[in-house]
Amino acid sequence: MSIGTTAIPDAAVSVTVPAKVNLALCVGARREDGYHDLATVFQAVSLFDEIVALPRSDGQIVLQMSGEGSEELACDHTNLAYRAALLLRERAAGGRAPGVDLRIVKQIPMAGGMAGGSGDAAATLLACNRLWDLGLPIDDLSRLGAELGSDVSFLLYGGNALGLGRGERLTPQTATGRLEWVFATAPRGLSTPLVYRQFDDMAARGAIRPNNELAAEALADLCSGDPERVAGRLRNDLQAAAVELYPQLAMTLDAGLRAGALAALVSGSGPTCAFLAADASSADDLADELFDKASEVQDVRRAYGPVAGPSVTTGPDRFSR
Ligand code: C5P
Repeated sequence: MSIGTTAIPDAAVSVTVPAKVNLALCVGARREDGYHDLATVFQAVSLFDEIVALPRSDGQIVLQMSGEGSEELACDHTNLAYRAALLLRERAAGGRAPGVDLRIVKQIPMAGGMAGGSGDAAATLLACNRLWDLGLPIDDLSRLGAELGSDVSFLLYGGNALGLGRGERLTPQTATGRLEWVFATAPRGLSTPLVYRQFDDMAARGAIRPNNELAAEALADLCSGDPERVAGRLRNDLQAAAVELYPQLAMTLDAGLRAGALAALVSGSGPTCAFLAADASSADDLADELFDKASEVQDVRRAYGPVAGPSVTTGPDRFSR
């Protein structure tokens, strides 16, 4: 990655953060506070955003973004990464107001249900914690992350995890094996609050029944690393709502199954569709076929999971490639 011709100070911090897919997203009824109680199984997958944090002496927080879909994103106080830096400074900088230049290179699909925005916020917490020498342990960053969004905490840890509550109460799961994924992005995004609202509408008219229970056997299968066992248990309770809002997704899911996927589901609140393959070579074939044949697909990405959480490096060498 290039961040221009400016000399990079020794203090620069770089964080690489993965995307996520929900292997299960079991959604209960709407709560008084508007959120929904979940039982979700997160898996971190090998699509990455990269965040570089550079010190600023004028106390400002300045954000620049490049890469996939970044031109559609605001770089002001409405951006989750900006808010992450501000929140960390307010809570942990002890009356000082250190500044930061944040440069984000996006590869995770935007508004796609893969938590790119939450991942950028998680990476910003880690980068500024290091840049500003705050020394907060990861569990403290996770509590701050939960204030920013339901998925931020998970993106600080990676791997596989069970998420309860809004998704922020995490229990890491040991995962063996490696799942081979194909992700198909869509030409337009879907707003997460809108998909949850559609879920509520469908529940009100009896089209779906909210239920956030996940059986222990299902959790064990999902974390087994065995593609057949995982395929039998993949579940997304938001899928019907996402498909009502974006009917073409049904065609994309079908196209993946016809092209040999073991299972197909909408990723999180969508519209990215996730396809589980039996092995790496079937996943490569599936990716080619989807790219050639599925008319509603914007782009096709290969990935595997689980992958570890964010990696943090310091110094200029990181940026010389
Ligand atoms: O927590 P986050 O900001 O990512 O959530 C975005 C929106 O998704 C919330 O405003 C809410 O409408 C919906 N949501 C929900 N229940 C959850 C998580 C998210 O209703 N457990």
